[in-house]
Amino acid sequence: MIEEQLKQIREELSTYIKNSTNLKELNDVRVKAFGKSGLVTALSKNMREVAPEDRPKVGSQINAVRSELEELLKTKEAEFENAELARKLQEEQIDITEPSIKVEIGAYHPVADVIDRLTDICVDMGFSVVEGPEIESDYYNFEAMNIPKNHPSRDMQDTFFITDEILLRSQTSAVQAREMEKRKPPFKIVCPGKTYRNDSDATHSPIFHQLEGLVVDENISMADLKSMLTILMKRLYGEDTKIRFRPSFFPFTEPSIEVDVSCPNCHGTGCSICKGTGMLELLGAGVVNPKVLEMSGIDSKKYRGFAFGFGLDRTAMILDSISNIRSLYRNDIRFLEQMKGE
Ligand code: PHE
Repeated sequence: MIEEQLKQIREELSTYIKNSTNLKELNDVRVKAFGKSGLVTALSKNMREVAPEDRPKVGSQINAVRSELEELLKTKEAEFENAELARKLQEEQIDITEPSIKVEIGAYHPVADVIDRLTDICVDMGFSVVEGPEIESDYYNFEAMNIPKNHPSRDMQDTFFITDEILLRSQTSAVQAREMEKRKPPFKIVCPGKTYRNDSDATHSPIFHQLEGLVVDENISMADLKSMLTILMKRLYGEDTKIRFRPSFFPFTEPSIEVDVSCPNCHGTGCSICKGTGMLELLGAGVVNPKVLEMSGIDSKKYRGFAFGFGLDRTAMILDSISNIRSLYRNDIRFLEQMKGE
């Protein structure tokens, strides 16, 4: 009697399994067979009704049917899972040959890049980075820098006057006096920023950039200035850079120097960037004139200083081989595109 039932259950359930069309239906069959009130479960419970001598035989028959059905379920389940995987792979297929959507990434402006590089090097050497106003007074731009009204050296820095006393700063040196008034020595500052002069040709633009440096401390000498600038130039242009110091004149430094570096393009042999000379003039510098210290309230008997002023546009032009300074300000996308990817 139980054998009959077993046969029937086996056939019925395996037909269900075969005919099921998805994982859910398959699961229903599993419950129907092995759930709490499942058919196979019920049979096992009914073993009590079987004569004791037949129990081992019937028991093993039930177990055989159980394993057979479990095997069928497993196979069918794997079939569904594989089909699902195949469907997903098909649906989520990506065409790796399709051209990608390009995200346009901008680039640093060459001057901004030079400012970053130089200030990074200076910060490593213990300098603080400061800023000053571009609209400046005649006092800070000229007079406090030991360039009195009507002094001939004003000629070199013809700038744009807003009133007789207010102008667009012609040099970041204007920040020197502002910082000296504010700070107590010793201090080391650099100030990058825009500067203006009434000048315009392939190498001069009415707006350009400078980076000013000022160190005030006891026992400062030309040797400190030279060693500091040598390190700065080598870090900017490479260890093999040669540096040349030439005597010069600035009303606010005494003695004054101009600093040249071996051309990073031809390494001193001569090319179009250095106009065949092998060297490039990059900055003015010097030991701060005691008069300048005194005017800003610093005791020149106790303290001395050195200062330097970099032309940043020129530095950018050299680093990026740019021949016309106007390219930096024309906002021509074809030029700016070339600044990418460095
Ligand atoms: N301010 C000077 C210039 O614009 C450069 C300079 C700065 C020189 C600091 C000496 C010291 O030409």
